Amino acid sequence: MSSWWRDAVIYQVYIRSFADGNGDGVGDVAGLRSRLPYLAALGVDALWLNPWYASPQVDAGYDVSDYRRLDPLFGTLEDAKGLIADAHEHGLRLILDIVPNHTSDQHPWFQEALAASQGSDARARYHFRPGRGADGSQPPTDWPSIFGGPAWTRTVDADGEPGDWYLHLFAPEQPDLDWTNPEVRREFEDILRFWLDLGVDGFRIDVAHGLTKDPGFPDLASRAAGGMLDGVARDHPYFDRDETLAIYEDWRRVADSYEGERVFVAEAWVADAARVARYLTPSRLHTAFNFGLLSCPWEASALRSEIDATLGVLAAVGAPPTWVLSNHDVIRHATRYGRSQTSLSDARRLYGTPVDHALGERRARAAAQLINALPGGTYVYQGEELGLPEVEDLPPSVWQDPNRRYTDHDGPVRDGCRVPLPWSGATPPFGFSPEQATADPWLPQPPDWKDHTAAAEEQNPRSTLSHYQALLRIRREWRDRGLGDGAPLEWITTPPDVLAFRRGEVVCYANLSTAPVALPAGYRVLLASEVVDDDRVLPVDAAAWLVAE
Ligand code: GLC
Repeated sequence: MSSWWRDAVIYQVYIRSFADGNGDGVGDVAGLRSRLPYLAALGVDALWLNPWYASPQVDAGYDVSDYRRLDPLFGTLEDAKGLIADAHEHGLRLILDIVPNHTSDQHPWFQEALAASQGSDARARYHFRPGRGADGSQPPTDWPSIFGGPAWTRTVDADGEPGDWYLHLFAPEQPDLDWTNPEVRREFEDILRFWLDLGVDGFRIDVAHGLTKDPGFPDLASRAAGGMLDGVARDHPYFDRDETLAIYEDWRRVADSYEGERVFVAEAWVADAARVARYLTPSRLHTAFNFGLLSCPWEASALRSEIDATLGVLAAVGAPPTWVLSNHDVIRHATRYGRSQTSLSDARRLYGTPVDHALGERRARAAAQLINALPGGTYVYQGEELGLPEVEDLPPSVWQDPNRRYTDHDGPVRDGCRVPLPWSGATPPFGFSPEQATADPWLPQPPDWKDHTAAAEEQNPRSTLSHYQALLRIRREWRDRGLGDGAPLEWITTPPDVLAFRRGEVVCYANLSTAPVALPAGYRVLLASEVVDDDRVLPVDAAAWLVAE
């Protein structure tokens, strides 16, 4: 039996938008616990939860002030223990999100650092540095924050005079930790143990490629700006540095000291699959998100090159790929695929322009079927199983994303992929909050989501939800005969813009061309993302799994 994580289907729970148990308009642990049967019936193997720790919520929980407590918005530690037990009861493993690059500015360490003097031990947990220029009024380097503006903020000393600057690759409320400090390393290993002791099955590592910085603090100068969604080149002053890899060797030892297979998945936005593979040697992390595929347009040649590149370099280190189409940081793929230009960068450029949503949702179903036939694991971002689009017309007055504060930020606010899920009913909150709720959902849901509720889609055998349920059930059934880990992928020669490959007993076809394509004789259709008639022709923008008759 192959290890569970090598071909797991992992459902991303963006907890504040999943299900609201207490009626305050924000999703929580109680809501999630009540919906575990839905997730088990969907057929996923594990859940990844976005951060639920105590936090001022400046960056939706990615600004942690206490890593060993839940934010009261989401529940208590007792609720967390109950969730871990319930999830396991439902056959679902649970992966938490660990945020090691930065803390909240309200974390006791940072508060202590601010109160302490320059050069103190308290400040040595972060990156405090003098400014440049005669009066120190210029930031120590030219590094930009990923949310816009400079990556440095100046502090005020006890005497009221301007003091040192501190580094924050993200918002000023998210100061970066100094990972050369042994105390920082010890603390995080202890946090990992805290949650592993409570029974969690692993961690998604936030900004896994960012932990160490060039000790010389050079300027970025002529380099391209270090946007989080862009590939990062070698010898970058703060991304994808070799020193970071040693940290994960320590973490791997921690995880391996526990029973069961406790695993890591890295969020590493780096230049290409070859750079990702460095994180995934047997002594480092188990898996990393494959963002190459997520950035690709809906085009056969681009997808095929990305698939080949990923399989090639990961096989060399023995790590399984993990395929992902959407997450809480990017424009949902049902929207990306609904325009004539379909890459992630196109979607950012074309944000708010007309979308053919039916086309996007159709392609999204085909894409899900394609990635679930590839070797390795897959991710489902909550709501993609309902075919939800990006909500691109949220009024600015409701935006929460900290990147909204900066005009030089590269890309739209991320709130449009974070709108609370529609569960049932004909009007907002669509069952997201209980009937006696005291507040509206924290972001408004589009009224036309009545056709996209889980309840409505469950009744419709042609819905995206019904497709996902069938897809995941069949993937499980055929796991040892071609789908999942193991069986090598062999490409089949096809007309242009059609992707076809065999894995064990299963053959997958995806038609990205502009004409229907004939399926091979002697095979029956296990599952298709659109109706395939007896004439055995696969329509445009559809995918099918076949097995020999
Ligand atoms: C990661 C998260 C993103 C967050 C950032 C800072 O990229 O996915 O949501 O804003 O890290 O923690």
